[in-house]
Amino acid sequence: MDFFELVSKRRSCRKFAEQKPERALIEKIMEATLTAPSSKNTRSTRFMVIDNPQIISRMSEMRDYGSAFMVGAPVVVLVMGTKSLTDLWEINCAISATYLQLAAEAAGLGSCWVHVGGRPRLKDEPQGEQAEEYLRTFLPIPKECGVVCAVALGYSGYDGQRTKPIANNDGMVTYL
Ligand SMILES: Cc1cc2nc3c(=O)[nH]c(=O)nc-3n(C[C@H](O)[C@H](O)[C@H](O)COP(=O)(O)O)c2cc1C
Repeated sequence: MDFFELVSKRRSCRKFAEQKPERALIEKIMEATLTAPSSKNTRSTRFMVIDNPQIISRMSEMRDYGSAFMVGAPVVVLVMGTKSLTDLWEINCAISATYLQLAAEAAGLGSCWVHVGGRPRLKDEPQGEQAEEYLRTFLPIPKECGVVCAVALGYSGYDGQRTKPIANNDGMVTYL
């Protein structure tokens, strides 16, 4: 599959098959992810690969909206950035997470981004406990790192090929 076919087929995957991806495949995806560009080549992004179902289950409770599906994911990669290396650490994380999702797709896995940074645990309590604070209570997140997102990974649990919804791209690109 070439790049253009890959991006045209990728969809967020929130339902996973029970089959656990092989460690070698995850390592290949992570190697590709580590080639991502970063501001001034600071390479500030750090990753935590989690395949323990009990830990993933706890992670899925980090928010009361948009994270519950993670409980069915065989692998979750936490994407973090070392803040002291660059003021653009969050942007570096976002690029890395995007590479991770595309590499997963190329490797035949589905994935979905679950946001962490700046998100409260409870939608109706924006000033309450933050998703990142909660994750720090049971994950060894380095104190010098901020967390941007978690990427859930696994073989797709959907039947057949899912198509992209028709998007209205009017006005999104200007050619001068
Ligand atoms: C910055 C960002 C944050 C996202 N946060 C979540 C999330 O918390 N939970 C979730 O289920 N999906 C999340 N997504 C996935 C988007 O909902 C999804 O990419 C979007 O609806 C487009 O669908 P597609 O990925 O199938 O093309 C996020 C995606 C991005 C890029």
